[in-house]
Amino acid sequence: MNDITFRALIVEEYEPNKFRRFIGKKSVSQLPDGEVLIKVIYSSLNYKDALSARGHKGITRNYPHTPGVDASGIVVESNSSKFKVGDEVLVTGYDLGMNTSGGFGQYIRVPDKWVVPLPKGLTLLESMIYGTAGFTAGLCVYAFLEKGIKPDSGKILVTGATGGVGSLAVAILSKLGFYVVASTGKLEKTEFLQKLGAKEVIHRSEVYEPSGKPLLPRKWIGVVDNVGGITLSTAIRSTDYDGVVASVGLVESPDLNITVYPFILRGVSLVGIDSAETKMDKRLKIWEHLATDWKIDFNGIWREVSLDDLDKEIEKILRGEQVGKVVINLWNK
Ligand SMILES: NC(=O)c1ccc[n+]([C@@H]2O[C@H](COP(=O)([O-])OP(=O)(O)OC[C@H]3O[C@@H](n4cnc5c(N)ncnc54)[C@H](OP(=O)(O)O)[C@@H]3O)[C@@H](O)[C@H]2O)c1
Repeated sequence: MNDITFRALIVEEYEPNKFRRFIGKKSVSQLPDGEVLIKVIYSSLNYKDALSARGHKGITRNYPHTPGVDASGIVVESNSSKFKVGDEVLVTGYDLGMNTSGGFGQYIRVPDKWVVPLPKGLTLLESMIYGTAGFTAGLCVYAFLEKGIKPDSGKILVTGATGGVGSLAVAILSKLGFYVVASTGKLEKTEFLQKLGAKEVIHRSEVYEPSGKPLLPRKWIGVVDNVGGITLSTAIRSTDYDGVVASVGLVESPDLNITVYPFILRGVSLVGIDSAETKMDKRLKIWEHLATDWKIDFNGIWREVSLDDLDKEIEKILRGEQVGKVVINLWNK
């Protein structure tokens, strides 16, 4: 195949530890090795993408770089027996968008073991409304169900509820009949959260208890925590007997100061969620659920932007101001 030139968001380190980003041209011949070349139709914006786009050596070691941990599109070249030209596929996680040129470019080339066939029941667009955020929310739901938590077991707390993972977790859990309490810093978005199915919307200060008391009154049977720090510690200390806390994110802090009491006196489980390296058999199972029995009504939870609009959306997610999901249409100007 002749070399193809394409548009991408490029993040450049113009002086040591000083970064700038712009929409520029790249060519397919510059992409890393891999069995599958994919024409990216949609990507989606995640907090991690914004960190990479701002310049973050913990996420992306080498610049210039194109972020984007999510991509859905069409196979245009394949040296894999698993995929053929024309297949609709998606990729989330692994090294995509970290040190491998990511979904904020019109083409990616990746190993076949990262590629998921687009599940029946989802369009390329819908798969990116979910993206890593929806897949991660799905992993939390899976962890609750695996540990025997049912819709009538008690209340589920979702922190950072208006964000990507948060809003999709609220929507999926509500769809499955769970009683969801959404914690947010944006009480003005209460109606948005109620439309997703939240039964209660509380201010994030209500789940922020810095006293260090080892145990707090029991409130939750499950927690999806996107923020870490004192909020995660409060959530663990407030979880009921045999409850499950899924630790997803760190927008507040990566620190966690707790005692063992919630674990040994209440049987609380702390479950770590790592969407990037989820094994393929579990990955396929989660996507299958997202496309069928867990499939949500996508109305009102997402917005489409073009590559040219991406810069301001990146700034907004870094300020914690995004609501729901931002989907990038790579071919819309
Ligand atoms: N473990 C995994 O596999 C995995 C996968 C995806 C994401 N993550 C992590 O999960 C987190 C959420 O990711 P995302 O893409 O959903 O990001 P996001 O869309 O920016 O959502 C984060 C939400 O957290 C809340 N928030 C922001 N700053 C806060 C602060 N200082 N204190 C408390 N709450 C704050 C805001 O919601 P409210 O205003 O509603 O409170 C914000 O919308 C990130 O840390 C990300 O790195 C982990």
